[in-house]
Amino acid sequence: MVEATDAVEAACRHVLAALDKGRSPDDQDSADFRRRLDAHLPDLARLFHGLYGTRTDWLDQLAALVNQAAHSWAVRPADLLALDAAREDNSGWFLSNQMLGGVCYVDRYAGDLEGVRAQIPYFKELGLSYLHLMPLFLAPEPHSDGGYAVSSYREVNPKLGTMEQLRSLAGELRAHGISLVLDFIFNHTSDEHEWARKASAGDPGYSDYYWIYPDRTMPDAFETQVREIFPDDHPGSFVPMPDGRWVWATFHTFQWDLNYSNPEVFRAMAGEMLFLANQGVDILRMDAAAFIWKQLGTPCENLPEVHILLRAFNSVCRLAAPSLLFKSEAIVHPDEVAQYIDPAECQLSYNPLQMALTWEAMATRDVSLLAQALEHRHNIPEGTSWVNYVRSHDDIGWTFADEDAAAMGIDGFDHRRFLNAFYVNRFPGSFAHGVPFQDNPRTGDCRISGTTASLCGLEDGTVHAVDRILLAHSVALSTGGVPLLYLGDEVGQLNDYDYALEDGHATDSRWVHRPHFPADRYARRSDPSSSEGAVFAGLRTMISVRSRTPELVGTKLLDFATGIPGVLGYQRPGDGTRILALANFSDLAQKVPALTLSGFAAGALNVLTGNLVGLEQGIVLQPWQFVWLRVTPAS
Ligand code: GLC
Ligand code: GLC
Repeated sequence: MVEATDAVEAACRHVLAALDKGRSPDDQDSADFRRRLDAHLPDLARLFHGLYGTRTDWLDQLAALVNQAAHSWAVRPADLLALDAAREDNSGWFLSNQMLGGVCYVDRYAGDLEGVRAQIPYFKELGLSYLHLMPLFLAPEPHSDGGYAVSSYREVNPKLGTMEQLRSLAGELRAHGISLVLDFIFNHTSDEHEWARKASAGDPGYSDYYWIYPDRTMPDAFETQVREIFPDDHPGSFVPMPDGRWVWATFHTFQWDLNYSNPEVFRAMAGEMLFLANQGVDILRMDAAAFIWKQLGTPCENLPEVHILLRAFNSVCRLAAPSLLFKSEAIVHPDEVAQYIDPAECQLSYNPLQMALTWEAMATRDVSLLAQALEHRHNIPEGTSWVNYVRSHDDIGWTFADEDAAAMGIDGFDHRRFLNAFYVNRFPGSFAHGVPFQDNPRTGDCRISGTTASLCGLEDGTVHAVDRILLAHSVALSTGGVPLLYLGDEVGQLNDYDYALEDGHATDSRWVHRPHFPADRYARRSDPSSSEGAVFAGLRTMISVRSRTPELVGTKLLDFATGIPGVLGYQRPGDGTRILALANFSDLAQKVPALTLSGFAAGALNVLTGNLVGLEQGIVLQPWQFVWLRVTPAS
């Protein structure tokens, strides 16, 4: 340990000396950068040493990395420097109850970047302050995994616009109080990326950018431990290259995993990250984070080095793009999800457990697992936040912990089978119209595709479909964190069963829930007699009430056991008062008895309706009804 500290101190001196050679200390930029270096270089050096300290070139690599950060800082545009300063004074800006996210595909939702700009008035109508645009960079055609195979991080897909337009859109969104969120697809590049092309051509430097082996020996050894992610696409994790070598491809054959055991890859990707930061991106969604480090003899997911890498990337941001935040996309075991959430790592994280268990409770009409998750897995460190969503562009995977389920007497494997059957409408009484994703008969694994409305039963007008859509969103909007809407769901968009007709989409059922802009549904959003009007109005009310309810700031949550299997309860503590949320996940009216509520003073306010509610008689909830009550602990 002593040795490592010495090494880190020596490294800092080495880096500073190398940096000073090229820069004048009087330079304003440089003085500011030096201040950041003093604060953050020791951390970065320690992390870098942890990853690469056994290599003879690690110091030079570190010096080159810091130099690159200095250059990036020197060209950071003035408006972003101002933003950096503002956010340094208000580092908890993203914990506010004004934060509301939306996510969409540029082409499907708006045609191109200009089309996105044209939607800004609508985004404001909805109350968005966070816009995640799905991957919009140069990618292979027609197979690009929805843009998640990036051929250049510095070129916008020409069908969508230009880098200049992206920068100006970022500025315009910011002027309207909307932060831009883009993916940092850093686990892999497409096989058409320049680095991949050079690797294919046999360039040894670039072959080391990926996990490439001459024969099946190492692939076979790795694959004994590694999970198959897209078994419909290819078995195992490796795919053959045209010259007979094998390359690691966790996702599709055309998405090649980067080799972060090579410090040059870290440096190259840090360069791409800082480039994106300087275009005006506020938050990077760290795509497929769990997979970025490989170690023979392990499952190659969530390894300790993954966290060191994320911290090192984060530390590079603190030097040269200090207002940038990370959102972790780790759709893994809940114990592992929690490991990514830290102010020094990912300040934001998807909440895949709450997402999946909301659907689980809707199917079972039993909230036990969801309530257990809220009680034991919801609270996260100060200065971090969940991103809560009802569904995303990806499938719904049942990522609850088997041990949590076992504690409730539920067998995880059987329960997932039931949930899959329920959501593809192969279970008696199911209201859902989902389709299977990556059904793997060998392992029994399967996930679900479908839009929120189709999964809630709106397709055949099932009674309570609208209520279920609103109830699912009420959970995402009130448990704490940034709620994220899949745009189009706020008007109840349905599955697109024609997805397979589009070039490159036939083999990926996730396209069923990525429909084009539902213009007709949006046109009816103000008509209260339509389902889209009912969904839209209900959501609008929740969004606006949330933004006026101080108890809903941040993520802190207290559990509340209703004692009724179908009724979820939780509390959001404020200053003296609390919001008590109750949600009926069942087809029958339910009464939460007065005794259960006797810890609170009798007079409560339903903040969603503005009505006063007496708790002395208990609270009756209609099927699929929810309430947000402002309560005061009984004195
Ligand atoms: C993430 C994306 C998903 C994509 C995968 C590979 O999980 O959300 O859509 O297929 O990464 O990039
Ligand atoms: C797997 C991965 C996740 C990805 C998803 C895409 O669940 O763990 O990162 O989003 O596949 O379907």
